[in-house]
Parts: sequence; C-alpha cells; structure tokens
Amino acid sequence: MPVKRLFAFKGTLSNASIQHRLKYLITAALVALVFYLAILNRQWAHLENVFHFETSHNIPPSTSNHTIHKLAQDAQVQFKQLLGKRPVSLEQAASRYRERRGRHPPPGFDTWFLAAQETDAIVVEDFFDRIYHDINPFWALDPARLRRMIKDEQHYIRVRDGKAWFVSDHLELRQPWVQRWTELVEEMMPNLPDLDMVLNVMDETRVLVPWEEITKYVTEEQRQRDIFHPSKAITDYTKYQDEPSDKDEPPIKVKWIEGEQHQYWDHYRVTCPPGTPGHNMSSLETLDRSPSYPTQPLPFTTDGFIQNFTASTDPCLQPHIRGMHGTFIESVSMSTTHSLFPIFGGCKLPGNNEILIPAGMILDSYDLFSGGESHGGEWAMKKNELVWRGVASGGRHKDANWWGFQRLRFIQMMNGTTVSHLEAGEDVAPTFSLSELGEYQTQAQRNNSLGKWVSSFSDAAFVAFECFPRQEDGLCSYLDPYMELRNSIHMKEQYDYKFLPDIDGNSYSGRFRAFMRSTSLVLKSTIYTEWHDDRLIPWVHFVPFDNTFVDIYTIIEYYLRHDAEAHRIAEEGREWSEKVMRREDMKLYVWRLLLEYARVMDPAREKLAFVEDLKD
Ligand SMILES: *[C@@H]1O[C@H](CO)[C@@H](O)[C@H](O)[C@H]1NC(C)=O
Ligand SMILES: *[C@@H]1O[C@H](CO)[C@@H](O)[C@H](O)[C@H]1NC(C)=O
Ligand SMILES: *[C@@H]1O[C@H](CO)[C@@H](O)[C@H](O)[C@H]1NC(C)=O
Ligand SMILES: *[C@@H]1O[C@H](CO)[C@@H](O)[C@H](O)[C@H]1NC(C)=O
Ligand SMILES: *[C@@H]1O[C@H](CO)[C@@H](O)[C@H](O)[C@H]1NC(C)=O
Repeated sequence: MPVKRLFAFKGTLSNASIQHRLKYLITAALVALVFYLAILNRQWAHLENVFHFETSHNIPPSTSNHTIHKLAQDAQVQFKQLLGKRPVSLEQAASRYRERRGRHPPPGFDTWFLAAQETDAIVVEDFFDRIYHDINPFWALDPARLRRMIKDEQHYIRVRDGKAWFVSDHLELRQPWVQRWTELVEEMMPNLPDLDMVLNVMDETRVLVPWEEITKYVTEEQRQRDIFHPSKAITDYTKYQDEPSDKDEPPIKVKWIEGEQHQYWDHYRVTCPPGTPGHNMSSLETLDRSPSYPTQPLPFTTDGFIQNFTASTDPCLQPHIRGMHGTFIESVSMSTTHSLFPIFGGCKLPGNNEILIPAGMILDSYDLFSGGESHGGEWAMKKNELVWRGVASGGRHKDANWWGFQRLRFIQMMNGTTVSHLEAGEDVAPTFSLSELGEYQTQAQRNNSLGKWVSSFSDAAFVAFECFPRQEDGLCSYLDPYMELRNSIHMKEQYDYKFLPDIDGNSYSGRFRAFMRSTSLVLKSTIYTEWHDDRLIPWVHFVPFDNTFVDIYTIIEYYLRHDAEAHRIAEEGREWSEKVMRREDMKLYVWRLLLEYARVMDPAREKLAFVEDLKD
C-alpha cells in the first residue's frame, strides 16, 4: 500500500529530472528496506533457535477474516511472547521466581533446575502458575495442623530419607494409576524431602472450599510473602520424626460428605464468586427432555467462539452446564468436603482445591491411551474426517436423565442419520436442539442438508453403554432406539483421521496427551483443569470448543475449508507437546510441586529457602 501511494505522486511532479531522481531514491530506499527486513528476519530466526523452537511449517498466511482465524492469530502472538520468557541460567530462574511468587524458591530448587537443563526442558516460570494456585491457600493453615489432617489417611505416597513408596490400608481399592504416580515420585529420589502425599483414588473430584474462605486464605498467603535477607534462610527441611506433633498429637479428621450424587452442583456453587451466574442457582430438580442452552452470549466467547479457554472451563460462568454435564447431573460416586484439605489428584474442576498432578492414565504407556510409539502419518495422507470411539461414561445416566450427558450429546450430534431425521422434523434427539445453532449456521444447515454433510465426515460411536442399572447383555434399553455400539478403533488407526475430538468422561479424558502427540488435529471441550494448562495455548496447539457443542459444526466446516490452518495447529501441537509434555516434563512439574508442598507442610516454612544465588 505505501509503495503504491508513493508512485502515485509521480504524476503531480512536473520536472522530469526530479521524477527520475525520485525513482532512484525510492528504489534505493526499497533495497535498503529489503536488506533491513532480511536482517530482522535473521535475528528473529536466531532468537527462535535460542528457544529451541523452529517454525518449520511454512504454511501460507491465510487472508481469511473469519473470527476463528483472528483468534488463532492472537493466540500465536501470545505464544511467541511466552517463549521469550525462557531463563538460561539458575540465577535468572531464581530471580524470575522471586519476581512472580514474592518469595525465595524452596530449598532444592538448584538441583531441580539442573535436572531441567539436563533433560532440555523448556522452563518458563508461567508454566508453573498452576502449582501456586493449588498450593498457596495452604500457607494460611498451620503446618502442624496440616500434618495432623493427613495423619490418618488411607492412600498415600510416603517419602522418608530419600526413598518413596505407596501406603494403603485398602489394597483391593487400589487404582492402577496409583502405581504410575508412585513410580514417577521414585524417579525423583533421593532429591525430595520427607513428605506424605494423600491421593484421590476416585474418578470424581473432591474438595470444594467456599469462595469467601478460599479468598481469605489466598489473601493471607499474599500478606505473608517476604523476600528476607539470605542470612536468615534455613536450607534443610524438617524431618518428620523430629516433629513432636507428628508423633503425639491425634489426627484431625476431615468430614467427607458422601452419597447424593445428584447434589454435587449445590456443593460446587459455594465456590463460585458472588455475582457469577452460578453462585445463586441451585441444582435442577428434574432434567427436562431437551437441554436448556444459555440465553446470553457467554462471556468467554468472541462471535460465539472460545476466546478465553480457561474461563470456558468454569461452571460458575455457565450454570446451564449443570444440566449438560454428567458430573453435575449424577456422578458415579461423590465424596466431598468444604474444608481445605491437602489431597493430590489428576484433574479437577476450576472450583476444586485438590493439588494437581499429571493424571495417572496419561503416565501409563498402555497403548490404548498412548498409541504406543506411533504418532500417525503425513497430514496429506489422512482422511478428511473425524473419528471418536469411547465409553458412554460421564456419570450415572439413566432412563430419566441420559439426554443431559455430554458424550451422549456428542454422539447424537455427530450422527448424520440422526441429524437428517431432525431436519425432517422428527423428535429423535433429546440431547440437543438444531434451532439453538441459529447464529452458528453452516452452509449445509442453511441448505437443509446438515445430516448429509455430517455423514460425509463423521465416524463417532460408543464401544460400551454403561447403563444404570447395568444390563446383563451390555445393551441399554433406553438408548437402543437412538444409538448403537461399534467396534473400537485402535489409537494408531484413529491417527489416520484429521480430526480427533476430546470430550470429558467421568472426569478428564485420558486420551488428550496421546492426541496431542499425534499428527492429527485435536479439538477439545472440557470443564476440567489439568497440570498442563499453562503450557498449551488454545488455537495454537489445539482447537477449543464449547461444552454445549453449539460451535462444533462451524469449527469443523472452517477447518475442512482451511486445511492448511488445521494442518498447522496439528503440527504445532505435536511439536510443542513433544517439548513440554514429555514424561520428563511431568516429572519436573511434580518434583517442583513437591518441593513447594514439603515447604508449606514444614513447621519452619517461613525461612525455608534457596538463596545460594544471592551469596557472593
Ligand atoms: C469479512 O470480510 C467481508 C468482506 O470483506 C465482510 O463482509 C465480513 O463482514 C467480514 N467478516 C468479519 C467476521 O469480519
Ligand atoms: C444469592 O446470594 C446472596 C449472596 O450470597 C444471598 O444473600 C442470597 O440469599 C442468594 N439468593 C438466593 C435466591 O439464593
Ligand atoms: C481468562 O479467564 C480467566 C478465568 O476466568 C481470567 O483469570 C483471565 O484473566 C482471563 N484472561 C484474559 C486474557 O482475559
Ligand atoms: C448448498 O446448496 C448449494 C446450492 O444448491 C450447493 O451449490 C452447495 O454445494 C450446497 N452446500 C452444501 C454444503 O451442502
Ligand atoms: C445413528 O442414529 C440412528 C438413528 O437415528 C441409529 O439407528 C444409529 O444406531 C446411530 N448410529 C450410531 C453409531 O450410534
């Protein structure tokens, strides 16, 4: 544009020689500009090498002005900024820590940072924000009291004198992932101080501290922050047997509220800030035979697409989800408390107060969840289609509530036959409503051929129904008219499809990491938070979609039409997850978390600090 405008001046100059000179000047300026840009470009390339990040995918810039395209562009900028924050030395890492956390790092930080460097891990301080979100409230409770709270627990990993092992008084209750967690902690030995780590062995999430209380705790933690003089620092954690309260004082029992699986929403909403729509809405008494979609645009969307993925997981901002997610309709089991209690779990809802660690199933090398060594072939060789296979989990669905469950909704929406029947005016899909998709209309829906179009790309089905009550034959009388079971498809074969959607089950979905590491495009909707949330950027590494799924058709239509953009996200997601979601990265995350945990549980915690970098 500017160049064109410059030449437009030509006609207004009367003197030919001036015109001639001007041409030379402009040419010279252009040449200089080209050189300058080339140098800038080289510098940028050099910077990217420093961050061990190469934008190897020369995917041509798209001229689309679609909201999805803009969201992806903004996310790219955010991602570049994040990479610029990578520290190169222990001193820098410790200084970033003090800046962001308002404290000295915990003792052992140096060994941890060294291990991170040795495994070539990308350590950006922001990647660990989740740890502080989870741990900080515990600074408001007395450490001796905290130790007494976990004293009488049933399932925990114990660390003493540089050795780790699992303790349980209910061997038959033992979940496979407990084994995986213990192995991970063992790998950090002998670098961890003494600790006991209570584990959530249930599928469901647990602790729900009321908003007012947790806010008080968080404020108290901020008040206590202090970067004291290095000479005052203590560098050895207190051994458990040295602490009298560990031996003599009786345990403090936490009151777990059990049963009443359909009441979880009422327990949950006490965590919602006053003023959020969820705060004042009670559980649904009955579930209408068609879902209640939100009537207002959701605050975390732009033109209807997820703009803030973190907020999009928050049930407080979307109370309609209490009728559209199994967790709130009726979970398989429930055991919750409103007291802050230190328990570790693989996922949680944003309002839960568990301490997050990588979910056990993703630590498993079991092929079903990981796809083994295979990550799929070339993008161009894949089918232009979507695939999903899984269990109809999500909670206890029954004759009177099944249409609210997320996976059942997804399977119906991805069934072209069902959608065609709906278009013909038949009442065949109580799980969703086409008229709710008004503003999201795809070309196919405007043509009244949505069902036909869905059939052209979708292969989604259950491999098991998990009815309640369970039927002997594995079938499900109330689902029979609407859906059928299909054979499972091995993860390796799912990678032959371009689109891999991921939907919550009883809690988080165990496939996500394997999907991310594949060469296919991951589409994700969830109300759960996980350890990796701060290191993945939606629209750069995966495509987010809303928990009601109203946007899913439009998103698929967009990426079927913009194949290069889909390819780019698939590739960026794969490359990045191989850098920041490796087993080493999970180990480093838990290692650092456990240093913080051991410190907050330590009677001498105020002065426990790593300060070596500050000494001359
Ligand atoms: C995209 O551009 C077209 C024409 O250039 C315009 O009509 C349309 O409103 C734009 N859409 C958005 C989402 O900005
Ligand atoms: C709504 O929340 C406020 C503040 O917590 C409370 O005082 C009020 O009673 C609630 N109203 C209803 C209808 O639950
Ligand atoms: C996204 O939402 C989260 C949670 O609601 C909020 O803390 C954060 O500030 C939001 N981010 C942006 C960029 O608005
Ligand atoms: C919609 O209908 C038009 C005109 O009949 C047709 O050209 C187009 O291919 C159809 N599009 C879809 C997605 O069905
Ligand atoms: C798709 O829907 C039809 C009826 O609408 C049903 O007969 C069929 O079993 C469904 N397919 C799957 C895979 O669930």
